[in-house]
Amino acid sequence: MEKPIALVTGANRGIGFEVVRGLAERGYLALLGARDAAAGEEAAARLREVGLAVEPVRIDVTDDVSVNTALAAVKDRYGRLDSLVNNAGVLLDEGVAGLEVPVEAVHATFEVNVYGALRVTQAFAPLLVRARGNVVNVSSIMGQLASAGPGYLAYRSSKATLNMITRVLAAELRPHGVRVNAAHPGWIRTRMGGPAAPGTPEEGAAPIVWLATLGPDGPTGGFFGPGNRPLDW
Ligand SMILES: NC(=O)c1ccc[n+]([C@@H]2O[C@H](COP(=O)([O-])OP(=O)(O)OC[C@H]3O[C@@H](n4cnc5c(N)ncnc54)[C@H](OP(=O)(O)O)[C@@H]3O)[C@@H](O)[C@H]2O)c1
Repeated sequence: MEKPIALVTGANRGIGFEVVRGLAERGYLALLGARDAAAGEEAAARLREVGLAVEPVRIDVTDDVSVNTALAAVKDRYGRLDSLVNNAGVLLDEGVAGLEVPVEAVHATFEVNVYGALRVTQAFAPLLVRARGNVVNVSSIMGQLASAGPGYLAYRSSKATLNMITRVLAAELRPHGVRVNAAHPGWIRTRMGGPAAPGTPEEGAAPIVWLATLGPDGPTGGFFGPGNRPLDW
């Protein structure tokens, strides 16, 4: 039987890299998305060395041409996509008050975290429908409206918007058998999370891998965190 196909954006390091590993360990052909081709090839080679089915795919989520080139390659080679993980993300306003954050920084954050995820999902939707697959938007508890406090205005707003996109696309894709969910990985030790974070990238990947591998009876339009627990919006 042919392997299911998964694409993970921003997977050359951090949580995305471990999501690729987790999916490949579960029998997927995992497409390791990276905006830098050399970084993607190097990361994919590390997983292939241990016998996992991983292929690098160059994809900059802010660039229409890059996304369409990746789409054409996946369509030609495989004709379908079983799982899309919108993991690529940036945090540009750490330590800056919302009253002082430059609007340009808010815009740059949305370019990746919001428009990037939307652009990739819109492009790959026909291949996901063909596979009746799963979309996972890697969000954050920082995007939760109920618990929001001061600071991180750009990052929080981007993840809250990504959560809304999750709800809308879940409703639109439900009739086509595609599930769309948002995941909070926990506070994870990566370049973004910093050295003080308690969780490992592998732990952060766990709820994302679960949502990326849901079967037809799995939830859609939900927000899930560590331990696969549902979170309030
Ligand atoms: N770490 C945490 O505690 C935490 C908590 C909650 C949510 N998250 C979310 O988890 C996801 C992964 O975070 P992480 O901690 O693994 O961060 P990370 O180590 O900083 O990795 C971010 C990844 O995104 C990629 N990326 C950035 N801009 C991109 C673009 N335009 N196109 C394609 N890829 C791009 C980076 O590529 P380059 O290497 O080329 O820069 C890198 O591979 C993010 O969505 C983040 O918001 C993280």
